[in-house]
Amino acid sequence: MSLKVTVVGVGMVGEQIVSILKERNLPIEWPPRVCATRERVEILAGDKYRVEEISLDSFNGADVVLFAGKEGANGASVSWRARATTAGAICIDNGKDFRLAPDVPLVVPEVNMATVGPNHRFIASPNCSTIQMVMVLAPLHRAAGVKRVVVSTYQSVSGWGVRANQELLNQTHYALKSFNGIPYDPTIMARPIAFNYIPHIDKFFENGYTGEEMKMVWETQRIMNADIKISATTVRVPVLVGHGESINVETERKLSAAEARQLLADFPGMVVLDQPDPDNLRNDRRERTYPVAQDVHKPEYRDAVLVGRIREDPTIENGLNLWCVADNLRKGAALNVVQIMEGLLERGLLNGRRPAWRQKNPTLAIEV
Ligand SMILES: NC(=O)c1ccc[n+]([C@@H]2O[C@H](COP(=O)([O-])OP(=O)(O)OC[C@H]3O[C@@H](n4cnc5c(N)ncnc54)[C@H](OP(=O)(O)O)[C@@H]3O)[C@@H](O)[C@H]2O)c1
Repeated sequence: MSLKVTVVGVGMVGEQIVSILKERNLPIEWPPRVCATRERVEILAGDKYRVEEISLDSFNGADVVLFAGKEGANGASVSWRARATTAGAICIDNGKDFRLAPDVPLVVPEVNMATVGPNHRFIASPNCSTIQMVMVLAPLHRAAGVKRVVVSTYQSVSGWGVRANQELLNQTHYALKSFNGIPYDPTIMARPIAFNYIPHIDKFFENGYTGEEMKMVWETQRIMNADIKISATTVRVPVLVGHGESINVETERKLSAAEARQLLADFPGMVVLDQPDPDNLRNDRRERTYPVAQDVHKPEYRDAVLVGRIREDPTIENGLNLWCVADNLRKGAALNVVQIMEGLLERGLLNGRRPAWRQKNPTLAIEV
């Protein structure tokens, strides 16, 4: 029996959802229904789609609704969640609107899929920068108890959405001629981003932190079900896709860099790029490999969280420094949502159906 899927939003994340649904061996009716704010024909993941204008009818017969629309009062999931769940669909949402609602599980499947039960009709996927950090913290926490985290992010512009990519490209073109008066839309990014970086993502809070920084604190604590102290600085950088994070972790028990490398390498969905690289072109005999943003375009890495620069922190008793990179549109959003759907299928939670289907890349649910 095939499941009927509706995808709401066909921007940066929505297109990736369609692409990942196509790549993976899921028992769904093809093609999925796709909706946005207005009707048109659009090429998504190489195929032509009739994008429907979202309406009351968009959810009729749907088993699963994957929300990838904008957030806020007029956003997709706030406007349409009630209609979709009443129509009988299970919804998985990329946005922030319901991530902290007590009755909504907030899920990274490798970490806490078991928090989803048969009565949950609406599930949230975390913020992109939270997802890749939680993937790194989960195995370390299981082994040694994470007490405190200091994180700085290097976030690509696609994290804002499709219009931010165009801003970076247009501004770069302009800035190659002049740095004076680079045109920019301050409602997308607060300063010109071309050849620049901006320590400002989402709105400022009373405490001086930004919304993106507080998401990393609250969402991580919720997913890991632990009162970990987290201090975050989130920064937009002029990269199209791929977020980087520098993470300092303090643990209850000592972990050597070698132990941390092994724990991370053993965790599903994680790839450690931190090996000696003696053949490097700089003749540096101590040089090691490490991930960079462009690695997320390589087929073997695009669905992984890549981690490197794993070092013991000599300034505290039990501390580590790490660097991680992931595709914010895939593991940071679309892939995580599809993996949640796969987790529901595995556990027979999609309308009580358990199609004869197994994942090609099994997600191990590891409780932290
Ligand atoms: N980008 C990331 O790295 C990332 C990571 C994690 C989570 N998210 C979340 O994922 C969601 C989508 O992000 P995005 O980057 O794909 O944004 P985007 O590129 O701006 O695309 C947004 C899409 O949603 C549609 N939409 C907006 N409001 C809608 C509404 N009320 N009803 C139906 N459709 C609506 C838009 O329709 P039109 O095309 O008709 O304008 C567009 O197709 C957001 O909630 C975002 O916070 C994004």
